[in-house]
Amino acid sequence: MHKLTTPWAQRLRDSSQPAYLLFPELLAEDLHSGRLSPGDRLPPLRELAADLGLNYSTVARAVAEAQRRGLIDARPGRGSFVRGAAPALPLRGGSASEMTMNLPPEPQDPALLERLREGWVHMGNQMGSQAGRMMADLRYQDFGGTPADRDAACRWLQPLLGPTTRLTPDRVLVGPGIHGLLAGLLSLLVRPGETLCVESLTYPGIKALATQLGIKLHAIPVDADGLCPESFEEACKHLHPKALYCNPTMLNPTAATTTLARREALADIALRHNIPIIEDDAYGALPQRRPITMAELAPGLTWYITGFAKCLGAGLRVAYAQAPTAAASQRLAGAMRALTVMASPLTTTLATQWINDGTATAMLQAIRRDSNTRQALLQQYLGDRGVQSQADCFHAWLPLPASLSPNEAASFWRLRGVAAVASTAFATDTTPPRAVRLCLGGPSSHAQVEQALRVVVDTLAHPQQVHASVM
Ligand SMILES: Cc1ncc(COP(=O)(O)O)c(C=O)c1O
Repeated sequence: MHKLTTPWAQRLRDSSQPAYLLFPELLAEDLHSGRLSPGDRLPPLRELAADLGLNYSTVARAVAEAQRRGLIDARPGRGSFVRGAAPALPLRGGSASEMTMNLPPEPQDPALLERLREGWVHMGNQMGSQAGRMMADLRYQDFGGTPADRDAACRWLQPLLGPTTRLTPDRVLVGPGIHGLLAGLLSLLVRPGETLCVESLTYPGIKALATQLGIKLHAIPVDADGLCPESFEEACKHLHPKALYCNPTMLNPTAATTTLARREALADIALRHNIPIIEDDAYGALPQRRPITMAELAPGLTWYITGFAKCLGAGLRVAYAQAPTAAASQRLAGAMRALTVMASPLTTTLATQWINDGTATAMLQAIRRDSNTRQALLQQYLGDRGVQSQADCFHAWLPLPASLSPNEAASFWRLRGVAAVASTAFATDTTPPRAVRLCLGGPSSHAQVEQALRVVVDTLAHPQQVHASVM
């Protein structure tokens, strides 16, 4: 079988969607992911039909559909070739990450901006007045933060982990962003070729890390109530996973929060099978009503990680990990030192300053308020379209009608200023749902968010414009 077509054959077998409609979507996905490049040649029709297990006329129809959507060029006598990718994104004075990363709203309150500035200046003044302190922050440090940084970390984590959690600095580490801590943790817990259980829709960074580290991902289905415990139990029995990675609160991308009953069931399974839990609580500070964390339900097994990317600023690159034990914390520190040396002492000092003077909490509250306003707009425009989200959340999950492919819709929307990402970017199994993640935050004003939502509503009402634009 042609190497190119192997995953297509599997997806076509697994899907109930007509093959001639799914085939162009598979091409679009592979173009998007870089698996296909403009100019790549498709196998001849007869070969393609044999590879995909379809009859000749279905394949001919599928290729014609892909051609109609502008994805391939058929050159008589020479075969079919993949056409160029969608035009580059118009950037709003930044990079493409603005459109694909999940960005919190940026509060514009002058008093709050002034507070951020004062914290920054105060830090500079402190350093200027104590020469030793400036030099200390310019030196190498042990991985994990100074005692003052770890104390501040404990203060930040306490409300997230509840009154029954006794936070101690010997179990808490400061790291260079959640992603950096995940890299260290995966390298510690899961060897190349071993299995990590993850949500079937998950933070794309975990997919990238698994690819980089040679880790096999096993998808546990997620629905509106979060991760499915029965599937996790099956995986524990038969696949011997080395850990469960989960993002149980405001899952990126679906915004679902795993219910307490499911969390208890998952913790119980993890305890019975002795499976470590990596709880990525990137959004954990956002909800007004805090869910009980996995770290509280299975404290001896859970690595709890959270950071400032979603409630203060991703550019700080500051995140915190609470290890299950002090010894485990030392093991993670060793792995992190090997991979990154340390988080920047300068930005860590700033984060500590902003926790201690209340600025971090003020930013969190402002981001939450702004998210509430954006959510009201979301409900106004897309409330009757099955959009899923929560009041304190700034991303949302939008199911699409059968007439719209997630990849095509997301590309079409991004060109029009809508921060949409197709389900394939998040999927860890071969059947991503027909949906996109919308991000309501970033540098966009409320008026720009409203304009983006109008574009989405208009496309849902007239889906044919997406195909017309590809032609
Ligand atoms: C679930 C989740 N984890 C981690 C990250 C990355 O966090 P950081 O910027 O702290 O590395 C993100 C960012 O989108 C995320 O959604």
